[in-house]
Amino acid sequence: MTSPFFFNPLDAATRRDPYGLYERGRREHPVFLHEGLPLRVASVFRYEDVQAILRDAETWSNEFPLSVQVRELGDIPPPSMLGTDPPAHTRLRSLVGKAFTPRIVSRLEPRMRELARELVDAALDAREVDLVEALTYPLPVVVIAEIIGIPPQDRAMFKRWSDEAIASLGLVFFGGLDPERIARQRRLFDEMRGYFIPLAEEKKRRPQEDLLTGLVQAEHEGSKLSYDEMLSMLVLILVAGNETTTTLIGNAALELLAHPGEAKRLRDDPRLLPTAIEEVLRFSSPVQFDPRRAKRDVELHGVAIRENDYVLSWLGSANRDERVFEQPDVFDVGREKNPHMAFGFGPHFCLGANLARLEARVAIGTLLERTRRLERTGSELLPLHPSPVFKAVTKLPLRLDPA
Ligand code: HEM
Repeated sequence: MTSPFFFNPLDAATRRDPYGLYERGRREHPVFLHEGLPLRVASVFRYEDVQAILRDAETWSNEFPLSVQVRELGDIPPPSMLGTDPPAHTRLRSLVGKAFTPRIVSRLEPRMRELARELVDAALDAREVDLVEALTYPLPVVVIAEIIGIPPQDRAMFKRWSDEAIASLGLVFFGGLDPERIARQRRLFDEMRGYFIPLAEEKKRRPQEDLLTGLVQAEHEGSKLSYDEMLSMLVLILVAGNETTTTLIGNAALELLAHPGEAKRLRDDPRLLPTAIEEVLRFSSPVQFDPRRAKRDVELHGVAIRENDYVLSWLGSANRDERVFEQPDVFDVGREKNPHMAFGFGPHFCLGANLARLEARVAIGTLLERTRRLERTGSELLPLHPSPVFKAVTKLPLRLDPA
């Protein structure tokens, strides 16, 4: 007799290695209704179902009245594009799309390389470092700050804001969003508003080639962003663009350490870097689940989903689906057919995907180029990120030997 299927995304052992449960979920429980949670929440594991949900904004909404609880606490900014459905989403996405041009992103590549080189060289001088502190965290923070147009002396605040904004992500689905956390989020918005509104005024007076200037100027069919919409956008970019990229670079280092044969293959042929990064995105997806709210009653694989139920689409499971990927549990830096959904799918597909890819290639490329060997120091379990959305560790102690 098989044991009952039980999937608890807050359980640390599950978070460290969810793949056995994902596989069983895909096989036996493609739709799993969680029990004992304050909200009605179902998890979905198969690639085909995840894709169908993310593509269909008519049935599956990104607008969560959950945030009403937060809203009652006072004056906080309106939902960002991530928290809206078309047509509101279309307007917001188009406005930021106009400011977040490939030109702004590609202009940063030389600076990104220089920064990665400085960080890796400092790590090499120290010989033993926490790679998160030394490289994976600072690189995306500085890149985002430069894209937005934040003066260098203000960047330290960014780390605190970013950590604060992200810590409670996804907890609400599992009953973990307490009043203290909500109050902290409110303080964060107040602080950010106090910082960004004068900065935006300054960009209006003296336009620069940066995202904040672009947001101040962007217009869509005669409508502009309000300051509060702009603030929501900046919080989103801070949340969506920092931790995710930190995680991707860290997971790449972890998988290369865990698969020395693949690491050697990549060192011997750096042209594999793009497919290697796509493989990390698939194999160890930074964002593990993507939530939606049902706009009507739906039946999925015989399970009744009611209007206003929440459905978590497990990207981390879809990306290991044996119906789509050959040998899904093999880490292959040269994998050719790799239609992973680590950046989501459909109308909310990640706006920063190309930036994240570029940063990861630059960071890992520089790390491999300038070292002969990387080695884990210590054998303790690495601490997990506080949010269940992320497949991430917050420390990665390493020894680096120079090339
Ligand atoms: C490895 C790094 C990254 C991963 C894994 C990632 C993942 C995702 C995912 C899964 C979504 C879809 C959310 C949904 O369907 O509800 C998303 C959306 C988004 N991402 Fe990323 N992201 C990354 C990096 C970035 C960066 C660097 C930025 C910007 C600087 C960014 C900005 C956004 C924005 C603005 C959205 C919302 C798009 C919309 O609602 O239309 N992301 N991201």
